[in-house]
Amino acid sequence: MDEHRAPSLERILRPVHRWVWRDAHRCARKLLTFAATEADGGRDLSRAAELTTDPLLRRLFLRHALDESHHAELFRARGRTMLAALGGGGGWLEARWLTPGERGGDDLRVEDVKDASLLAFLHLSEKVAAARFEVYRDVIPDEETREVFRRILRDEVFHVHYTRTQLERIAPERHRRELWLARASRLWKGYLRVATALAGRLGTVILLAQYFLVLPLFALAAKRAARRERPGWSERQREQPTLESQY
Ligand SMILES: [Fe+2]
Ligand SMILES: [Fe+2]
Repeated sequence: MDEHRAPSLERILRPVHRWVWRDAHRCARKLLTFAATEADGGRDLSRAAELTTDPLLRRLFLRHALDESHHAELFRARGRTMLAALGGGGGWLEARWLTPGERGGDDLRVEDVKDASLLAFLHLSEKVAAARFEVYRDVIPDEETREVFRRILRDEVFHVHYTRTQLERIAPERHRRELWLARASRLWKGYLRVATALAGRLGTVILLAQYFLVLPLFALAAKRAARRERPGWSERQREQPTLESQY
């Protein structure tokens, strides 16, 4: 894929990606996370190959599944080699939300969708992944990891193209609509992810503010009231009614 076709957000975030990938420990951990994502994608595509009734699609989904499981092996091997060479230590921050792997936060539920919708979803997510991997390949400082991304990118470009061609073949009339729906669904899921994360952070901030700002005021008022109390037993006020009988 040409660089000018990469989404502008990825290009704008290039300095951030450069910072994220600069730390070798973080880089190794990210590769292992990516390996898990790719392996998961491979399993989903094997299931899609089982479910489709179209023989050509079945062959392509199987090839796609093999590619993804090969990517998982490449990422895992490189991540483990790096970690073994680096030893322990390294920062705790992985910045997963800044540099997601192939599917990012997109969850693929192959049982719930028809072939056309699945191809539209795959096309969009492979396209975004290929653009992301292009940026990662360019900003990663070590040559061996860059080579891993280079090899994976060749397959990703194939995935982008075959999903579009097959979508146009099986849904010639409505392929644009399917892409539009897949795009809307991605946007909605992205919004939900951001909103959920924000709500979680906001809840923490409000609870902390209550604990450190509101609670001390009550503690102060309780202390003042306690100071006004006389120590020991105090005599009963005369005007208070007395309990003559239980009934
Ligand atoms: Fe992949
Ligand atoms: Fe892929």
